[in-house]
This record gives sequence, C-alpha cells and structure tokens, in this order.
Amino acid sequence: MKRSSHPSQQLKVYIALRQRYALFGAMDTRFYVRDCKITKKLINKRKMKNYTKAPLPFQGQKRGFLKLFKECLNDFNDKVIFVDLFGGSGLLAHTIKQQRPDARVIYNDYDWYINRLNNISRTNDLLAKIRFEIQDFTRGGGFSKKVRLPEELRRKILQIIYDEEQKGYVDYITLSASLLFSGQFATSYEELAKECFYNKIKQSEYNADGYLDGVEITHIDYKVLFSLYKYLPNVCFVLDPPYLSTDCSSYTSYWGLKDYLEVLDLLQWTSYFYFTSNKTSIVELCQWLTMHPNIGNPLEGAQCKEVAVNINKTSKYKDMMFYKKIG
Ligand SMILES: C[S@@+](CC[C@H](N)C(=O)[O-])C[C@H]1O[C@@H](n2cnc3c(N)ncnc32)[C@H](O)[C@@H]1O
Repeated sequence: MKRSSHPSQQLKVYIALRQRYALFGAMDTRFYVRDCKITKKLINKRKMKNYTKAPLPFQGQKRGFLKLFKECLNDFNDKVIFVDLFGGSGLLAHTIKQQRPDARVIYNDYDWYINRLNNISRTNDLLAKIRFEIQDFTRGGGFSKKVRLPEELRRKILQIIYDEEQKGYVDYITLSASLLFSGQFATSYEELAKECFYNKIKQSEYNADGYLDGVEITHIDYKVLFSLYKYLPNVCFVLDPPYLSTDCSSYTSYWGLKDYLEVLDLLQWTSYFYFTSNKTSIVELCQWLTMHPNIGNPLEGAQCKEVAVNINKTSKYKDMMFYKKIG
C-alpha cells in the first residue's frame, strides 16, 4: 500500500491494515506488534502537533501572545477547567490543551470557525483553481503581492468563485486573505466582487489536522456560557472580546462600548486571562473609575441629537450632541 506523507493519513492506512489482518485471520504476530508500535507513535505524533497560528486566517487571533500565554498558564496548574469565552479561531483553546492535556478545555466558537475548518479541502481545491487561472493568464509568470490583478483576470476568478458558491460553500474570509489588500475582509460574494484583487494565495495547502483534538466546542453567547461555569471550582476563564476601535467586520456581531464594559463585570471573583489593547482606553477608564468611585452617569437626563458622517464608501460614524438644561 502506498504510504501517504501526512501522519493522519498514515494513521488511517495503518488502522485499515490492522482491520484487514483481523478480518482474514492471517495476522502474523510480529507484524501486528510492529503495526501497534507504529500506530502508537503516529497517534502521539498527531497529538503533538502544535499550531503557532490558526490553521485558517482569522482577524484578531492571539498568535503574538502565545509564548507569554504559555508561560503564564503555568501559574494556573491548579485549574482543571478552562473556558475560552471568546474563542475566535480556537488558537488559545488549542494552546491550553497542548499545555494541559489533563484539563477540560471549552472553546466557544461563536463565529462557527469549525465550519471553515470542516470545509478546508473545498477551500484548498478552490484556491488551486484560482492559482491555476493566474498561472495560465501569465503563462506561469504569476504576479507579485503588490500588483493589482488585471480586470479580465479578476472577472475570471470571480466566475470561479461564483460557480463554487452555487455548489454550496465558499470560505470568504480565507479568500479575502488570499485575494484582497491587507486587512480587508469580505464575507459574501457581493462584498468580494466590489474589491480589487491581488495575488496573495499561499503556495501550500491549508491543514488543520488534530487542531481541536480533545477540546470541547460550544457556540453560544459568552454570558450564557459564563453562567454555566461560574460557580464551579477551579475554573479559569479566557476573555478576549472584540476590541473597540478596531475592525471587526469578519466577526458575527456588532460590538460596542456597552458590550465591552459588560465583560468587565465577569472579572470579579473569577480566575481569568483578559486581553485588551491600549487603543481601547479601557485600562485608563478603569483607573479613572477607581479615582472617582461615586460618579454616576454625567449624561443622565441629557437629550441627544445625531449627525451621520461618511468617511468613504464603506466607513461612516455618528457625531453626537448631548444637551441638558437645568434650572
Ligand atoms: C478578538 S476575537 C477572539 C480571538 C481569539 N482569542 C483567537 O485567538 O483567535 C473575539 C471573538 O469574540 C466573538 N464574539 C462576539 N460577540 C460574542 C458573544 N456575544 N459571545 C461570544 N463570542 C462573541 C467574535 O465573533 C470573535 O470571534
């Protein structure tokens, strides 16, 4: 039987072989023992696979924090349950499971990232077709990442994507990372069709083998999940909410200041990892609140008028005027 290069494939082949021996009763003990050893080795190898970034592109994944996160996890050796409330790509849950295989790790996959992982081979096939189209267009020459693809080629690629969508599934986030200018994300065909394309397609295939092995997956609002675990002993929560003042266009829901502040409520009386950035000014706000413990809402009783401001075709915000008359 031809040996496949990937450990998980090899594992499948050996399991199939072992089943076949058993079926025909033609098993030679030496082969059986050798097979068992190889199978065990492959299982361990598979378990050991350590991802230092999410298998598929994900905005806001904590890859830059992994080293520090692993170091700090050592202080939580008494904890037996870790709940990643804002799981995103699952990278933190994966990392905890790698470091603490004995612990229960719950990954709250609010964006259904798992669907993207389950469809990884379709995404690889689609990218291979687009890669081929680009090669064909340039007779093997390709394009540098910085060069905008010609309109004719862009249209051909869009047609391939459209055809794929008719078949049922397209991972627009991975496509965005492969075709759009850095940091831009489309979540539908219509959004993608409005953009200019660049050749940023990875040369190798995406792979997520063993990524979420042993991790429990949920898909619920973080408050509900928190309420299920908050009274259990030895729980540690991981809180990495969407950042304020940053682009969250590829996430499932809108995230405002109120949502952001509500998360702070969960930090009382719990063990946690909480991620934020100085862009959000949240630490500054917390320090200010400590210094002014008696302050209420200074806008209480004020009225509000809003004016919409368009920055460009896709971004807009609201200017607000609060007013209140006393006496
Ligand atoms: C900054 S990302 C988390 C990134 C993650 N730590 C990683 O390394 O990939 C925040 C995540 O919270 C999710 N989210 C937004 N609203 C949520 C809610 N109400 N409950 C749970 N998750 C939510 C977003 O969709 C996004 O996936």
